[in-house]
Amino acid sequence: MIETNALRHLMTPMDFSVDELERLFDKADDIALHPAQYAHICEGRILATCFYEPSTRTRLSFETAMLRLGGQVIGFADASSSSASKGESVADTIRVVSCFADICAMRHPKEGAAMVAAARSGIPVINAGDGGHEHPTQTLTDLLTIRSLHGSLSDFTIGLCGDLKFGRTVHSLIHALIRYKGIRFVFISPPELRVPDYITEMLRNKNIPFEEVIRLDDVIPDLDLLYMTRVQRERFFNEEDYVRLKDFYILDKEKLSRARESMYILHPLPRVNEIAVDVDNDPRAAYFRQVQYGLFVRMSLILTLLDLTDDHINHGLLKWQSP
Ligand code: CP
Repeated sequence: MIETNALRHLMTPMDFSVDELERLFDKADDIALHPAQYAHICEGRILATCFYEPSTRTRLSFETAMLRLGGQVIGFADASSSSASKGESVADTIRVVSCFADICAMRHPKEGAAMVAAARSGIPVINAGDGGHEHPTQTLTDLLTIRSLHGSLSDFTIGLCGDLKFGRTVHSLIHALIRYKGIRFVFISPPELRVPDYITEMLRNKNIPFEEVIRLDDVIPDLDLLYMTRVQRERFFNEEDYVRLKDFYILDKEKLSRARESMYILHPLPRVNEIAVDVDNDPRAAYFRQVQYGLFVRMSLILTLLDLTDDHINHGLLKWQSP
């Protein structure tokens, strides 16, 4: 956890303890159930979204989260429309943004960029994805989705399938899940996109069960959750390798027929070809519900980092209800 001048930032999912995560998810559940109670709590507050890399879900869900909390939003959606195109550093940009906004969500193609920003910031910074490193709010989304659908964050076998080498959502999710009990990992990837050695070494050291396989068909009947990922063109140095690997896995109805009726399919999205569209109507397909959980958890996160407690909620509600 980076804390500067009593500011709290989010750089990795590990910045929250398991107890803090429970409170964050409880709040997200409450927001989902009682959205009107939260509709004015951020009045007068501004979120800046500084996105140096493309995004649909993360940027729009952050912006929606702040708007649904009664706040406002400023920002840029690509580096070329910001002064980064004139050579401005991330450190200078965040100092400028700190003069305008109360909280910032930043996505950047370089690993560690959000951490550089946090060190210079006058406002809480949320890492909305830094290169192949971390994507903590996707992990919060994934954890809330699993908690809601599976009923708890313990005692399940999860298959992670696709690009396990460059996939920052996968790396963040593994780190987050090892703090819960009874989790077994099945890593499903082509040899070229295996999960990095430092992760398998960490799992061995902690005696956390895992296996690595190439064929999805062999393991799909054993899974409680299947987390599909996209092979990311933008992380490859070589177009030939990308073309060779991009369609290595395609989850279709036929493959899904071997899975348990209770197995949920998650995907951080965007999807390309790795899940056939005809799977979308299967009750086990949970990836669009996952997007909705992402909104609630980001609303909860904004309240937490701005230190807006239940007192503020009650106060805001009273003020709002007064004539
Ligand atoms: N899951 C995710 O990060 O999606 P975007 O790239 O669209 O934000």
